[in-house]
Amino acid sequence: MIEPISGFSKLNKEEKIDWVASHYCQNKTQAKKIIKTYWNTNSSLQQLHDEFIENTLTNLYLPLGIAPNFLINGKLVAIPMAIEESSVVAAASKAAKFWLKRGGFKAQVLGTEKIGQVHFLYMGNYKKLKSFFTFLKPKLLADSASLTSSMEKRGGGITDIILKNKTEKLANYYQLHATFETKNAMGANFINSCLEQFATTLKAEATKYGDFTAQEKDIEVIMSILSNYVPNCTVRAEVSCPIEELKLTPELTPQHTAEKIIQAVKIAQIEPYRAVTHNKGIMNGVDAVVLATGNDFRAVEAGIHAYAAKNGTYSSLTHAKIDHGIFTFSIELPLALGTVGGLTNLHPLVKLNLEILQNPSAEELMQIIAVAGLAQNFAAVSSLVTTGIQKGHMKMHLLNILNQLGASEIEKDILVAYFKTNTITHHEVELQLQTLRK
Ligand code: MEV
Repeated sequence: MIEPISGFSKLNKEEKIDWVASHYCQNKTQAKKIIKTYWNTNSSLQQLHDEFIENTLTNLYLPLGIAPNFLINGKLVAIPMAIEESSVVAAASKAAKFWLKRGGFKAQVLGTEKIGQVHFLYMGNYKKLKSFFTFLKPKLLADSASLTSSMEKRGGGITDIILKNKTEKLANYYQLHATFETKNAMGANFINSCLEQFATTLKAEATKYGDFTAQEKDIEVIMSILSNYVPNCTVRAEVSCPIEELKLTPELTPQHTAEKIIQAVKIAQIEPYRAVTHNKGIMNGVDAVVLATGNDFRAVEAGIHAYAAKNGTYSSLTHAKIDHGIFTFSIELPLALGTVGGLTNLHPLVKLNLEILQNPSAEELMQIIAVAGLAQNFAAVSSLVTTGIQKGHMKMHLLNILNQLGASEIEKDILVAYFKTNTITHHEVELQLQTLRK
């Protein structure tokens, strides 16, 4: 029986590992060895990683790959991608190469507005609250001036604050709904600091407001926090070509290919079961670059999925059409990103990835990530409507299967060559390996 531990965070790293390994692992020595195998030999680099979070034991590696040949608004970009799933980087590179010869990707930022809210309860007359808000708003801005001055120097700051009445949905519930421009920062700390100051000012001013009754003065702030739903911080990317250039496979004419892709996207627009998988494919590209550039993929995921459901049904983030003989494939999605602050200046590999991307502004990174998502979706949907996904996927997955089966380097070479012309299944790989070993 394992007893709860108190003071775990006070133990040093060695003691923490020892405690976990002795309480939860069958082979304590082996467990400790695995944990330490993943330590970086450079102790100051390891310490940097240890200090990113709490109770760090070790590191969990993700492969970092690169998808070259992305032509985005006329500029050639090689995109770093951190992801564990085989075939994602290959699919991105294939799509990049395909569109490179067809004018590349066009991308455009549609908006950069970030949002934060102070959620509060007020028991009283709404008209009086509205008048109070008119009086309060300049004070909110004045009291947060010290927090906003350096952001303002960079061209950002608070763009507006409005009062929202939410009492139809929840009794006595109101919001200070604030919008922000945070330039190259993702802005979470900036926004949350401003909101907490708004909350303090709101409470303090309410108690002094002469028109309020004692009950009205007693505003209760429930919480102050940014929103990861950013429907006005969006980016659009597209590719297009004359239909006859959409030659993907000898089995289908370009016209037929375009029609099948359009049909596949329409299905993802109206059928949530398909839309979730369709968008998952997009997120393969999006998350990999979000991670490689040290951004918050949970925030991005939450915001994108909410956006995909903004019309009441979870739907495709991409669109496809044929217009006057031109096939267009596009994506629109919200992305709140930073290229300064957070991990971006702290993590040496993240810094390097940003350098590989030619040190983009947040807006440029929004464009790159939208393109990665679009490319991924184009690759997935065009495989699905032509050869099917498994052929390419299993080809990329072959090395994982061989590694799982403990194949040697020579065995891997022989079997990779063999499966160039034979269908790959886990069973078949196992059989061939056994045959080879006889
Ligand atoms: C697999 O990671 C992603 C796909 O399922 C996406 C899709 O179905 O569009 C291939």
